Amino acid sequence: MLTDRFARRFTYLRLSLTERCNFRCTYCLPEGNDCDTAESDLNIHEVRRLLTAFARLGTRKVRLTGGEPALRRDLGEIIGLCKSIPGIEKVALTTNGYNLQKEISGWKKAGLDALNISVDSLDPTIFSRITGADRLHYILQGIDQALQLNFQKVKLNTVLLRQHNTHSLPGFLRFIKDRPVSLRFIELMRTNDNIDFYQEQHLSGEFIRHQLMEDGWQLQPKTATDGPALEYAHPDYAGRVGLIMPYSKDFCASCNRLRVSSKGELFLCLFADEHQSLRELLQSDDPAPVEAFLQRAIGGKEESHHLHQQRSGQTRHLAMIGG
Ligand code: 5AD
Ligand code: SF4
Repeated sequence: MLTDRFARRFTYLRLSLTERCNFRCTYCLPEGNDCDTAESDLNIHEVRRLLTAFARLGTRKVRLTGGEPALRRDLGEIIGLCKSIPGIEKVALTTNGYNLQKEISGWKKAGLDALNISVDSLDPTIFSRITGADRLHYILQGIDQALQLNFQKVKLNTVLLRQHNTHSLPGFLRFIKDRPVSLRFIELMRTNDNIDFYQEQHLSGEFIRHQLMEDGWQLQPKTATDGPALEYAHPDYAGRVGLIMPYSKDFCASCNRLRVSSKGELFLCLFADEHQSLRELLQSDDPAPVEAFLQRAIGGKEESHHLHQQRSGQTRHLAMIGG
């Protein structure tokens, strides 16, 4: 079992499959893709060896992320692979949804359990202004398709931006009235590439929390495997509202996740100063050296990020590692 110095247990791995992305979200990649293509992304064999070692150390849930993971042609195959690894119980995917309608039933057949889709606005003009993609309508239809396929969980991610979200809550609540999705408002995080944007646009999730409590939404108790998000439910709504407030007190206390980049680097935190490459160890089928590496590395995980001190570690943008 992977446990750190603060008795946190790591049962959840977020694995990035590529840094590449076809959207240009203002807070992430406003100029579009800038990734270093010199080094290739982990291939399916490296992914298998990595997941085998993690599963032997207690990982039960894997989230495939990016960049945009659906840009990988072998995504369906990788989903199937994750499902086939002894110990892995749940496979989730975070996507911008650009090819959701086309691929969703294939992903489901391959074994996908849960789906997160980024939806930063329900207004098509604002959506395309934020993402650079005129695709909201297609993505919303894809979400309804996913709901019909009975995924265990469908979550929508909305990054809170001062310019757009001060008055957007009622529209989002209408959207989840009859849809059993979990809509998660994520506070904008400062990264090394978005410092000015962050200063202008960061909006605390507190006003949403107050509004929800005034309107009778109830905070749901966390289970042992829940991460740092807060989740609210209301008897009149099929959907739920989540809040991810990384600047709030004790946010890191319930951290249950580790991250590996598409180049095979271990990120102990989204905002860590250093990353360690596992790639060489993924060239052999023997999981023991990978396990030893992870056991050693986990001892170096810090208690909290340093965002409050305006330090984002080495993280230029979250496309490096998928949030
Ligand atoms: N702050 C907060 N959320 C971000 N995301 C990407 N960059 C940031 C940032 N700087 C979100 C994306 C996506 C999720 C993986 O992370 O919108 O929904
Ligand atoms: Fe792409 Fe996601 Fe970054 Fe948007 S937030 S540019 S969809 S990686």
